[in-house]
Amino acid sequence: MTKGKRPRTVEIEGVTLHLAHPDELDIAWVGQQETMKQLLAAWSVIDDQDLPMNPRLLGKPGVGKTTLAYATAKLLERDVYIFQATMDTRPEDLLITPVVDGEGSIRYVASALVSAMLSGGICILDEGNRMSEKSWASLAPLLDNRRYVESIVAGVKVKASPDFRIVATLNDDASTYEIPEYIHSRLQPQIILDFPESDEERMILAENLPFADGEILDYVTGFLQAAHAADEPFTVRDGVNIARYALKMLAASEASLTDAVQQSVVHVLGEDAARYLTTD
Ligand SMILES: Nc1ncnc2c1ncn2[C@@H]1O[C@H](COP(=O)(O)OP(=O)(O)O)[C@@H](O)[C@H]1O
Ligand SMILES: [Mg+2]
Repeated sequence: MTKGKRPRTVEIEGVTLHLAHPDELDIAWVGQQETMKQLLAAWSVIDDQDLPMNPRLLGKPGVGKTTLAYATAKLLERDVYIFQATMDTRPEDLLITPVVDGEGSIRYVASALVSAMLSGGICILDEGNRMSEKSWASLAPLLDNRRYVESIVAGVKVKASPDFRIVATLNDDASTYEIPEYIHSRLQPQIILDFPESDEERMILAENLPFADGEILDYVTGFLQAAHAADEPFTVRDGVNIARYALKMLAASEASLTDAVQQSVVHVLGEDAARYLTTD
């Protein structure tokens, strides 16, 4: 579909659906090419009778799941629609929501997911294990070879375009729901995103903070690597925040670089985390 010519409404069985806008983020993926290849393979279609798969991307919060999913989708030059799942996500939120407009008539608004299905885009179902089993249930037919969803609210069946792709990101932490087995078996393959190696982690920090000088990137990378080795859940997101706050403090005071990073670590992650800093 050509840019700017995207239809913002689609009619199905006499019902007009208003589509969401795709997400535009300014992020590039650095290093860890293997996981990107795994995701691309899962989405590929190798024969007329083949279907794309619905991978799940598993990793600790802040390890880069949303970034990887987005960057990989953009590599395919598709529109990307991010659906942020939460504890409060209801089945109809995932599909079509009725909105009363000014004249008292009802407008049917397609979710990010349904907008991706209809426009042949890519949906990132982000932090999927924050939503309940009830919400997942409405996606069962989408995630097998039927590739459709049924909206009770709008009374329509929505078929996914052949170009539609989906990836669910799942947080590997305790604050989330178990995904029911029949959904788990439809979210295949599982792609695990782990902590990056030292050189890659430094490159990621540099990509996210292009204005930071090398010394601070080295120091924060050393901190993160020591924390990974001790199996702490600190990720590159924490590293970016630590370096960013330290840079702000340095700009505002005469503090030394080590002091600024030290203080920043305490503010971002707490007192205990400071033990992973080298102090020589
Ligand atoms: N390989 C990477 N390349 C570029 N940025 C990355 C990479 N890994 C992590 N990041 C950065 O780390 C932060 C957290 O990543 P994010 O994708 O939001 O994590 P998650 O979705 O796993 O919680 C973001 O600022 C992102 O830009
Ligand atoms: Mg995320």
